[in-house]
Amino acid sequence: MRKIQMVDLQGQYVRLSTQIDPAMKQVLHNADFIQGGAVRTLEAALAERYQVKHVIGCANGTDALQLAFMALDLPPGSEVITPAFSYAALTEVLLLLGLKPVFAEVDAATFLMDVAALEGLITEKTRAIAPVHLYGQMVSMEPLLALAKKHNLYVVEDAAQAIGSQYCTPGEHGFAGTMGHIGTTSFFPSKNLGCYGDGGAMFTNDDALAKKLRQLANHGQSVKYQHDVVGLNSRLDTLQAAVLLAKLPHLSDFEKARRAVAARYDAGLQDLQGLSVPQRTIDSSHVFHQYTLQCASRAMRDALKTYLQEQGIPSMIYYPIPLHWQTAYKQVVNLPVSEDLCNRVLSLPICPELDLEQQEYIINNIRNFIQKSQ
Ligand SMILES: Cc1ncc(COP(=O)(O)O)c(C=O)c1O
Repeated sequence: MRKIQMVDLQGQYVRLSTQIDPAMKQVLHNADFIQGGAVRTLEAALAERYQVKHVIGCANGTDALQLAFMALDLPPGSEVITPAFSYAALTEVLLLLGLKPVFAEVDAATFLMDVAALEGLITEKTRAIAPVHLYGQMVSMEPLLALAKKHNLYVVEDAAQAIGSQYCTPGEHGFAGTMGHIGTTSFFPSKNLGCYGDGGAMFTNDDALAKKLRQLANHGQSVKYQHDVVGLNSRLDTLQAAVLLAKLPHLSDFEKARRAVAARYDAGLQDLQGLSVPQRTIDSSHVFHQYTLQCASRAMRDALKTYLQEQGIPSMIYYPIPLHWQTAYKQVVNLPVSEDLCNRVLSLPICPELDLEQQEYIINNIRNFIQKSQ
């Protein structure tokens, strides 16, 4: 059996190298490393694929969030509502920009920001809501957008983990990252569409915001050496765009393979006592960036993680500490669901390259662990 990894990037490269190598070589031959042809081609391909007017590449998913909030130019101290059970990037950029993250609770079953609880967090200082489409499925955008409209708030979607997820209620439709004022994504190597280094992008249907985002990502200039606003050096490398363009035709197959892995985990694990398999939202498709279990307790989660590690099976805790408890972002708020999930979640290996033998081995070992501990 091949060594099991959370994400098998080497296996994917070997499989696609006949397409990736020439794409990268072409950039070396063209020597158009910065803002080269592949960047524009990728932006256009993503815009068409996700039915959004503008896609703007940038250096990484965290910069995409920072650029989004720079473009909105909110007054200092403005409040932005964002989930406490999530990756740190959003909170980090809000604080860097002098904005205040207001932490929202998540739904215990889907891990997604609990939209029903948002209205109670809105104050006269609230200027935006920033949902995170965690693990590969989308926050309930229809009521979120209605609430934002009612209170005249911006919506910035963090779609780093959910590129390709599709919202599909009768009232609203759209791909992750394209339904709010600005959406962002990450091309970090382990993401569903990952490059070979750092990369990110922003999505918007607003022409004025698109112009601003592009300008901000390139030192605040729209004409060379003419700096109209204070910006960043945050461009998507042409080499990375070439890698992404070579992978893009395979993305639907990657998603299919991830869903098949998730379905096999469900079938193999859903009857086990003390474990819950991930619940799907009714609002969107799931692209399974992560397959995340809930264990009955922290002790059980930690013991399962250790046991799997001893059998050569990696697993990850996304995320061990809620954002309001992080030293850098500390806030005294009570978010029992987020706090509890941090104690009990465990993400299993999931990627298109995970083969049947490897998956059977993972499932059997989890079953063994549960049987032994009963
Ligand atoms: C939800 C979320 N937002 C933002 C980011 C930041 O992306 P990057 O690592 O490209 O800066 C990540 C990356 O892990 C993420 O998972």
